[in-house]
Amino acid sequence: MEGKTTKYYLYPILLLLLLSHVCNSITISPALSPSPPPSLSPLDPKQARALRALGLSSRDPCSNPSPHHNATSCDSSHPYRHLLSLRLSNCSTSSVHQLDLHSFSSLASLSFLNCSLPPPRHLPPSLLSFSSVSSLRHLSSLLLSRLHNLSSLSILSVPISGSGLPLILSHMPHLHSLTISQSNLSGPLPDSIISSLPLLHLDLSSNNLNGTLPTSFSSMNHLQYLNLENNNFHGVIPYNASFINRLQVFKISGNNNLCYNHSLLSSKLSLGVAKCDQYGLPLSPPPADSSGKSDSSDDSLNDDDDTTWKSDREHHGGGPNKLVLGVAITLSFLVFLVIFMVCISKSCGCR
Ligand SMILES: *[C@@H]1O[C@H](CO)[C@@H](O)[C@H](O)[C@H]1NC(C)=O
Ligand SMILES: *[C@@H]1O[C@H](CO)[C@@H](O)[C@H](O)[C@H]1NC(C)=O
Ligand SMILES: *[C@@H]1O[C@H](CO)[C@@H](O)[C@H](O)[C@H]1NC(C)=O
Ligand SMILES: *[C@@H]1O[C@H](CO)[C@@H](O)[C@H](O)[C@H]1NC(C)=O
Ligand SMILES: *[C@@H]1O[C@H](CO)[C@@H](O)[C@H](O)[C@H]1NC(C)=O
Ligand SMILES: *[C@@H]1O[C@H](CO)[C@@H](O)[C@H](O)[C@H]1NC(C)=O
Ligand SMILES: *[C@@H]1O[C@H](CO)[C@@H](O)[C@H](O)[C@H]1NC(C)=O
Ligand SMILES: *[C@@H]1O[C@H](CO)[C@@H](O)[C@H](O)[C@H]1NC(C)=O
Repeated sequence: MEGKTTKYYLYPILLLLLLSHVCNSITISPALSPSPPPSLSPLDPKQARALRALGLSSRDPCSNPSPHHNATSCDSSHPYRHLLSLRLSNCSTSSVHQLDLHSFSSLASLSFLNCSLPPPRHLPPSLLSFSSVSSLRHLSSLLLSRLHNLSSLSILSVPISGSGLPLILSHMPHLHSLTISQSNLSGPLPDSIISSLPLLHLDLSSNNLNGTLPTSFSSMNHLQYLNLENNNFHGVIPYNASFINRLQVFKISGNNNLCYNHSLLSSKLSLGVAKCDQYGLPLSPPPADSSGKSDSSDDSLNDDDDTTWKSDREHHGGGPNKLVLGVAITLSFLVFLVIFMVCISKSCGCR
């Protein structure tokens, strides 16, 4: 019942979206038809050869882009087009003859999913996004550290060799999203490097990282997602409730020597770590439900006294009543009327 009534709030918005879409298609579609046909220039022959060496079909991937398997996309330059993105999945040494990426100097996005190939010697420095999930066997810190223009780096279930995070991140000033998980990273977090990045998303879960949690993370104003679970961090969690509530996701369980100061953080946050004793050591083993905790971290935040607007919207419906329903319907009607009149006046004005 509560779920149903809260949805009435959405009706005006849905109606608005629907109508503005209808309105746009009326007014914009005539403008689209005279636009020139898509460019038909072929893929750069050098890149076409390199694609064939990757075991991809000989058909021009620019004119037959495949959205799901081995996905590709191309720019529209003349006389030759160039590859902008490439995704290889489920490849093996039998399907991919040679992972030579030297020809793809135009590539902005490259991803590997379940590609058990030896790692390439070279990655295009033009990359804005690089992802390797259960692929490439192992990656070296040095290879990754050369991708200075990266905005998104995602490594999952691939061991990383070399000196790890400090080297990888030292020259990636534009990084918005960083995931390096199940990659055998060790040592402390290079906190000053990480907190100087414009990160929204930081996931370093399931590694062997140790040391204390950096205080400086709480000054990362764009951060929305922080996952450091299943590492070896120790000490007192240095974050307050307002920082934790500001995040959409905060996962910290699975660090057995970590604890929280219960005079600063409520147990209702269900962080999956133990309370600290007076010396800053875990008082008791983490709560038994810590495994389920990570999934419910969003909900658990809402239990705290200091609830955010997000939780207010999602969980404190507080019994919307008939008055609200009435207002919603009236609003929908008004919005409909306005959009309708705008549409009418526009289509009259255009033709
Ligand atoms: C990974 O790719 C191989 C083929 O190389 C395939 O047999 C296997 O099912 C794939 N695994 C997953 C999880 O997609
Ligand atoms: C990879 O292979 C697995 C199993 O063979 C299949 O389920 C999956 O859809 C494939 N993934 C891609 C992206 O081709
Ligand atoms: C490309 O996708 C096809 C299936 O669509 C698959 O058979 C082939 O192995 C893939 N090749 C690479 C290199 O991923
Ligand atoms: C990195 O981005 C800058 C600005 O967009 C660009 O000028 C530069 O050429 C890029 N570097 C590489 C190696 O592509
Ligand atoms: C993980 O790192 C440790 C050293 O920190 C090393 O001894 C071990 O071989 C690594 N494991 C893998 C799978 O790379
Ligand atoms: C962190 O782990 C490294 C090995 O990976 C070890 O040398 C170092 O002593 C550890 N530091 C702490 C504070 O446990
Ligand atoms: C929480 O921590 C941040 C950063 O350390 C600080 O700026 C803020 O004032 C703190 N908020 C409260 C309510 O203590
Ligand atoms: C917990 O916070 C209180 C209040 O800030 C402080 O007095 C106390 O020393 C802290 N305890 C630990 C173990 O850090």
